[in-house]
Amino acid sequence: MLADAGLYLSAAGLAHAGAGAAVASSVSRPSGDPDDVIMNLRNTAERYGALAIALHWLMLALLIGVYAAIDLTDLYPKGSAAREALKAWHFTLGLSVFVLVALRLVVRWSGPVPEPAASMPRWQQRTANLIHLALYVLMIGMPLLGWLVLSAAGEPIRFFGIELPALMAANKALAEPLHEIHETVGTIGYFLIGVHALGALLHHYVMRDDTLVRMLPRRPGA
Ligand code: HEM
Ligand code: HEM
Repeated sequence: MLADAGLYLSAAGLAHAGAGAAVASSVSRPSGDPDDVIMNLRNTAERYGALAIALHWLMLALLIGVYAAIDLTDLYPKGSAAREALKAWHFTLGLSVFVLVALRLVVRWSGPVPEPAASMPRWQQRTANLIHLALYVLMIGMPLLGWLVLSAAGEPIRFFGIELPALMAANKALAEPLHEIHETVGTIGYFLIGVHALGALLHHYVMRDDTLVRMLPRRPGA
């Protein structure tokens, strides 16, 4: 999973290098001055700060792990140790999404959120905002739904080996419908993430604005 993320980030870095010139005017030069370093951590009206950027790409890596773990269970027979281990990773990584999204909201609410590119028509700004909102619903709702599925099934909920309390009393009749909702929303999540990523790539390669670049780490001296 981390290898995937590393690969992605290097690819993203290359894309950044290509588009850097287009946004040079809107990005200030980090000088190494401690004040600048702190400023670079936070969002500005033009660009995402290092904290928001790190949390954004870490979330992508985490979600690749969450989806991969549960999808790979199909390779192993029911009840096998490998299948159970993959499920346990799905639960732990899924609960980590919940922790990370809380941090992300704190960062988002503690400063400005960059304005959309000025060239973007209103309908695109509204669509992008709606998709961002839906992604937040996914990042908060899916871990909670998963937690509810295990609670209703009366199964233990382990986060890195620590047992968490059940969110509701065991109720086998509810476990199946909750599982189905979790599964359906999980599938919708694939599409949402795909549309969101496609939008970012269209902005970068077709509309050639700074939407993607400002969500990428700054190059030193850029
Ligand atoms: C963002 C977080 C999460 C996403 C995107 C996600 C997504 C998914 C997906 C796509 C499936 C496959 C459904 C299927 O084909 O059967 C699944 C199954 C499942 N998930 Fe999650 N999940 C997340 C978090 C969690 C958490 C935190 C838990 C529990 C603590 C959990 C518990 C389960 C359970 C019990 C299943 C059914 C496994 C089985 O078939 O035995 N999920 N999840
Ligand atoms: C698959 C690759 C991805 C790419 C290329 C990508 C790209 C971007 C870009 C360029 C922005 C800035 C948009 C703007 O300024 O209007 C952004 C923002 C955002 N992205 Fe992604 N993203 C990806 C994956 C994800 C994933 C997996 C999630 C969460 C499920 C996510 C959630 C968000 C949210 C909520 C924002 C709004 C800003 C914020 O609150 O952090 N992205 N993304």
